[in-house]
Amino acid sequence: MRKLGLEDLDVSGKRVLLRVDFNVPQNEDGTVRDDTRIRGALRSIEYIREHNGKLVLMSHLGRPKDPAKAETDDERAAIETANAKLKLDPVAHRLRELIGGTVIKADAVVGAKVEATVEALQPGDILLLENTRFHPGETRNSPELAAALAKLGDVYVSDAFGAIHRAHASTEGIAHHFKQRAAGFLLAAEIEYFDKILNDPERPLAAILGGAKVSDKIGAIVNLLELVDLLIIGGGMCFTFWKAQGHSIGDSLVDEEGIDTARAIVAKAQEKGVELLLPVDAVVADRFAADAATKVVGLGAIEPGWMGLDIGPETVERFCEALRRAKTVVWNGPLGVFEMAPFEAGTRAIGELLAEGDMLSVVGGGDTVAAIAKFGLADKMSHVSTGGGASLEMLEGRELPGLAVLTDAP
Ligand code: 3PG
Repeated sequence: MRKLGLEDLDVSGKRVLLRVDFNVPQNEDGTVRDDTRIRGALRSIEYIREHNGKLVLMSHLGRPKDPAKAETDDERAAIETANAKLKLDPVAHRLRELIGGTVIKADAVVGAKVEATVEALQPGDILLLENTRFHPGETRNSPELAAALAKLGDVYVSDAFGAIHRAHASTEGIAHHFKQRAAGFLLAAEIEYFDKILNDPERPLAAILGGAKVSDKIGAIVNLLELVDLLIIGGGMCFTFWKAQGHSIGDSLVDEEGIDTARAIVAKAQEKGVELLLPVDAVVADRFAADAATKVVGLGAIEPGWMGLDIGPETVERFCEALRRAKTVVWNGPLGVFEMAPFEAGTRAIGELLAEGDMLSVVGGGDTVAAIAKFGLADKMSHVSTGGGASLEMLEGRELPGLAVLTDAP
């Protein structure tokens, strides 16, 4: 097995194809709302420029639809309008601001014009290709697109941790064309943290899982039950566990299909000797709104017409008490509807505990990262992952195609 880092590559005078994940949240007008992922790739970008590489950046943005698949003219027009908002120009603009220099933005993913632009690049130049998903071959990992992209570079580097779970032309297919392929600094750092948690954690190791549906997290729960000493479950999915245990949950969110799974998880945790903590109280509301009437109720005391939207204060105390003993904590999924002030306390309290503690803390998943950013805690965690689906798939213990292709023998 080979494992190359960017520093092992000779990039001088070479065209470096760098796959990044610039799939960033946008404002209504298309401007970049959160540039965390762009800033995450800066170290690799700057290293390559300082070492006289010519940068060809590739990224997707959103999930554009293929206008060729439209059945009517109106549908095609609607797709084209929606896709126009997914052009990478605002991303190029933000990157220019961050590096304080020029970024050439291509109007296409591949083709003669792009090739000519690449040919003219000088050491230190940066070219950003258009949204890779505008090409229909990207998501189906088309060998033709992979080959056309590969023509644009001499070496391949991936820094796209957020897209590493996708076997797409620019994340997987392309890499087979290069003997010289490596992980960038961001990808390497992400892998190091997840490796530590999954393979060599300082114990006790705790996992906190939140979010709405048990079925979304089942893969991670099953894998983590083999690894962790403590598993904490909160967020919307805890009501599925409550229901599975026969407690009334009023109008709370329930994942009917996850009820049997929840029962099996509780039994498995017992069998494995994993301490499983579920909420013992909840903040409930009479409707899903920031100005709803609220109250705190104990386990099983949610009446019809009320729904649980956050973990309650006694739960917070119990979770914090257990987490204080942990030396390593991985967290994916908010514990309540943190976007609304009356239901943010649980998520905030757990975030503050991790921020203040000296345990290794790794936070992943788009919503969780947004929550700790909202509370100003992001800088205080050991690692905040840039991956949403990718970080969850890491916790599921799955092989990630965009990573496997970097470590496989050529
Ligand atoms: C993400 O935001 O999780 C990545 O950029 C992957 O995006 P995708 O789920 O559309 O493949």
